[in-house]
Amino acid sequence: IEVAPFDLIVFGATGDLAHRKLLPALYHRDLDGQIPADARIVACSRRDMSDADYREFARQAISEHVSDIEDEALSRFIDRLSYVAVDAAGERGWSELASALAGREDVVRAFYLAVSPDFFGPICERIGAHGLTTELARVVIEKPIGKDGESARKVNAAIGAVFREDQIFRIDHYLGKETVQNLMALRFANALFEPLWNAAHIDHVQITVAEALGVEGRAGYYDTAGAMRDMVQNHILQLLCLVAMEPPESMDADSVRDEKLKVLKALRPMDADLAARTTVRGQYRAGASAGGAVPGYLEELDDPASQTETFVAVKAEIANWRWANVPFYLRTGKRLAARVSEIVVQFRPIPHSIFGEEAGAIPPNRLVIRLQPDEGVRMQVMIKDPGPGGMRLRQVPLDMSFAKAFAVRNPDAYERLIMDVIRGNQTLFMRRDEVEAAWAWVDPILQAWSTLKEAPKGYTSGTWGPSAAIALIERDGRTWFEDL
Ligand code: BG6
Repeated sequence: IEVAPFDLIVFGATGDLAHRKLLPALYHRDLDGQIPADARIVACSRRDMSDADYREFARQAISEHVSDIEDEALSRFIDRLSYVAVDAAGERGWSELASALAGREDVVRAFYLAVSPDFFGPICERIGAHGLTTELARVVIEKPIGKDGESARKVNAAIGAVFREDQIFRIDHYLGKETVQNLMALRFANALFEPLWNAAHIDHVQITVAEALGVEGRAGYYDTAGAMRDMVQNHILQLLCLVAMEPPESMDADSVRDEKLKVLKALRPMDADLAARTTVRGQYRAGASAGGAVPGYLEELDDPASQTETFVAVKAEIANWRWANVPFYLRTGKRLAARVSEIVVQFRPIPHSIFGEEAGAIPPNRLVIRLQPDEGVRMQVMIKDPGPGGMRLRQVPLDMSFAKAFAVRNPDAYERLIMDVIRGNQTLFMRRDEVEAAWAWVDPILQAWSTLKEAPKGYTSGTWGPSAAIALIERDGRTWFEDL
């Protein structure tokens, strides 16, 4: 279905995000007929470039990231692009941008700030000062929103001085992933799970977002952030919210976000003592990845003193009726043994076995939601081992692999999210209070780490992180789920 006509103004249009994600995503949506004939994309950055130069940049970006391009569709898409050189924090280019937009006040006007967060405030201020906001204006920003609660509040206030909350789209691209949305379908479109979805039946939950890659040329940014700010504060807590929230009234943006907010507020606060016992920070050392030998983080960064973590494991708890005493083990890291993101919901063991010892052990049921790669959902259940030989039991997966079940291309998260911006649908975007509540839980952990002054624990690239992360869960008589 076509969206309404729009002007999409992309700041940072020559940057990495535009190159890798935004241009390919827009091309795909255009190819699928979702972009109306008179929609335009106005690219802005500091560089001096002509429209033709930018079109060539876009053509190359799309060729690099999209396989089997359709030439006619690509030309049609490229024709939508124009370029204005704009100084985000200066005055150059703003009146040219204003003339490029003039006369289009009646179409959706979305400003996409694919720039460093330092520019969010200055750009919004200039958008306001040049009178570029309209009733149909929207602004899209990317994480990181601040580096702690206080700076996040400042960023939010600067944007909020120009745009209303219903015009602000804070992207967490994990929410745009197909399987993440599927989590809501799984929970709320099936009668099967919800009655069991609580502390009485669930033993614990694991959320793993493991990456095989290192910091890949982003060390400058990454070293100021670390895994806690880069992944846990946003993506992982969002996943936790979707697993743990109460059923929202509807898919309406505020219904969903109200429920997520309650989860964030119910996270058991960490003090220094609890953080020391229930969090692990790691940093990768040299080792091996699929492509061969790889250097350690400190060598890549060329700073032997950096204490930035590239791995975090946390045992989190949600202090409410549904989840009391059900640990949520969270972990994420770079240069781990594989790229795999999954949520594992482990149910409690059966209360009593009627089978004798010869049947073998009866491991608990697990629901494994694989976010990437090989997206799918598996339910591990016990069956009788087929054939004669008595009642021997075996665990097998009830397996729903998306690739096997559906012969459709899995759209990138950005394709969904950009179209939602144009439609004005905020369900998959973070509200201001959510971002700030997530920081309220993260801040004391960061403070505890800086007080403790313990160096992150080294782990060899290509492994599952520091042994302390394994000890964190094994101490509770549980293990990380790994079935690669
Ligand atoms: C980004 C982080 O938000 O998410 C990166 O800044 C990380 O460090 C990336 O690599 C992971 O995203 P995905 O979609 O590849 O899992």
